[in-house]
Amino acid sequence: MSLLRTLYRGKDYRRALSIEELRLIGQRRIPNFSFEYVEGGAETETALRRNIDVFNRYSFKPSTLVNTEGRTSDIQLFGKPSPSPLLISPTGLNGLLHHRGDIALAKAAANAGIPFCLSTVSNATLEDVAVEAGGRLWMQLYMMNDRNIARDIITRAEKAGYEALIFTTDANVFGRREWDLRNYRQPGKLSLRNILDIALHPRWVADVLIPNGIPLFENVLEYLPPQMRTVKGGVASLPGMLAPDISWGDLRWIRDMWPRKLILKGVLNVADAKQAASLGCDGVILTNHGGRQLDSCVTPIEVLAEIRQAVGEQLTILIDSGFRRGSDVLKAIALGADAVMIGRPTLYGLAAGGQPGVEHALALLNEEIDRVLGQLGCRSVQQLNPKMLVKNDP
Ligand SMILES: Cc1cc2nc3c(=O)[nH]c(=O)nc-3n(C[C@H](O)[C@H](O)[C@H](O)COP(=O)(O)O)c2cc1C
Repeated sequence: MSLLRTLYRGKDYRRALSIEELRLIGQRRIPNFSFEYVEGGAETETALRRNIDVFNRYSFKPSTLVNTEGRTSDIQLFGKPSPSPLLISPTGLNGLLHHRGDIALAKAAANAGIPFCLSTVSNATLEDVAVEAGGRLWMQLYMMNDRNIARDIITRAEKAGYEALIFTTDANVFGRREWDLRNYRQPGKLSLRNILDIALHPRWVADVLIPNGIPLFENVLEYLPPQMRTVKGGVASLPGMLAPDISWGDLRWIRDMWPRKLILKGVLNVADAKQAASLGCDGVILTNHGGRQLDSCVTPIEVLAEIRQAVGEQLTILIDSGFRRGSDVLKAIALGADAVMIGRPTLYGLAAGGQPGVEHALALLNEEIDRVLGQLGCRSVQQLNPKMLVKNDP
């Protein structure tokens, strides 16, 4: 049935009625190795599966006979209005899905009026994204062994006008994504099966490979040793450059340098959230990195209510990992999140249709948010609260 559905939907992203359908279309449009790079989780992929399944544990208790005509999904995010409670999470190597993938994602976010977070390991420089896409731009930072790299990225992001800095802390002990690894004979060298599979995707070859070859890690190219400034060199050297000794001292150091909004990405317990607040963070992102890092990891939605209760309004709380439906987004807001970040859903859109595909992904989620709000009897997302949810047994 599911195979028949996939065949029936074809490859036109505009026909996708859900993020799941966009995922299937994206999968057909790009080679296996690039799809599995996006899709894969760590080890047995327990966290990856639970990130999706956990939303079934929460059901809504709607109110009836409420006139919700004219309802709105607007929120205030760091003192600025945003038309939707969504943001795009930072993801590296977006150029593997579509020619200039970072710019396409950033432009789609700008058109939707929501923030876009650029990864440290992006295929476009942070300066190019600022010039070509504009909009509300946030910069994500991985801390490398050489702290001068972080200093430089922070300086560049400030100069280019980025609104916020996201310090990601959950990937310095790098996750093992086995599906991804299986596609390579050695780092950066695809297996024969995957090379043949590329030949079956001529549209992707014309879009991604022919213009510039496999995309380089442009944003950090200057920090790689000269002999490593290739795709293979980047893939082989970057995980080893991540600092294994990051600590709260690094956060203090960043806080002293970065004058704008600072957000800690990788928080999953109350003590860490409180520590982030006490060290001057403006926000935290509750995340398990989309199930790509610690496999046997709690899902962020399970710890959201207790963290909100502990930090009150001291911090803006953002959350990601596993959000695929507008109803998932509203559940998180009901439990105390200020907004929700999405990683793979917009990447599926990018794979399926470039910038318009990303816009389609955002439109699907925004329509669902609006429809579910109406069905719940809410005129705005601010009316959501934990009492509207029932938690079922697993
Ligand atoms: C392909 C891919 C690349 C990612 N790269 C980064 C990255 O460079 N920096 C980062 O902080 N998080 C990265 N993440 C994690 C995302 O920011 C986000 O936490 C995760 O995708 C959310 O889960 P979801 O994909 O289920 O929405 C990446 C995730 C994916 C799927």
